[in-house]
Amino acid sequence: MLTPTQQQTFQQQGYVVIEDMLPNAQLVEMQARAAEIIAAWDDEANRHIFSTHDNNRSGDDYFLDSAEQIRCFYEEEAFDASGKLVQPRAQCINKIGHALHELDPVFARLSRQPAFGAVATALGMQQPQIRQSMYIFKQPRIGGEINWHQDATFFYTTPSSVLTYWFALEEATLENGCLWVEPGGQRGPLRERFLRDGDSTTMAVLDNTPWPTQNQGVPLEVSAGTLVCFHGHLPHYSAPNRSAKSRQAYTLHVTDAACAYAAENWLQSVHLPLRGFTD
Ligand code: FE2
Repeated sequence: MLTPTQQQTFQQQGYVVIEDMLPNAQLVEMQARAAEIIAAWDDEANRHIFSTHDNNRSGDDYFLDSAEQIRCFYEEEAFDASGKLVQPRAQCINKIGHALHELDPVFARLSRQPAFGAVATALGMQQPQIRQSMYIFKQPRIGGEINWHQDATFFYTTPSSVLTYWFALEEATLENGCLWVEPGGQRGPLRERFLRDGDSTTMAVLDNTPWPTQNQGVPLEVSAGTLVCFHGHLPHYSAPNRSAKSRQAYTLHVTDAACAYAAENWLQSVHLPLRGFTD
């Protein structure tokens, strides 16, 4: 599936960009299905915001229980001072998480494609298991910033194994808040671990290495249908979206069954099966 050059790029840079991974028909299908999920979402009692700025929480059951459900989260800037949505509701949702790949028939089918499994295998994974799925909207005007972070912070395995699949469902540009990465940054240490203890979570600092400066990062401007696959230690970031266009993406986080998955990770498979791309 991957050329030797692509494999080498991943080894050296910590990420690989593969164009045309999702055909247009699948992009349309995913976008239509996400719109249906939002339309059907009853949010009267569930006005929950997703933010990466506060990771030390207690009793945030809505977030924690979303591990094995399909739940919508609002953008941080979705509400004005009086609590009213600042733009049409469909343009206020930050993301849908975190078990679309198991619970939604459309996303379950489109998440499990042998070609995706072949990417994991080519990158050295023995037995890929899909841990999490997210539909990220990066809404026009209010799409929130995602701080620099490493995904192994949230999916800690021994040895480290998590691979992130980031599919552009729309064109991603500097203007609408594309992904930024630090090429080669996967060779650096894991800086943080997100730990769960019952219904409390904390962000533990493992290493004080500073996050990349803007000069060390590169923006990945990609066309719709492109897959960016990256290493769990690769620092990445995305800026707020102040443009008039959304920047929708679908992500999968995949770990290797050959590695030990930490009991302290916030997301555990308790009720749902844990499967790979071809199971
Ligand atoms: Fe991430």
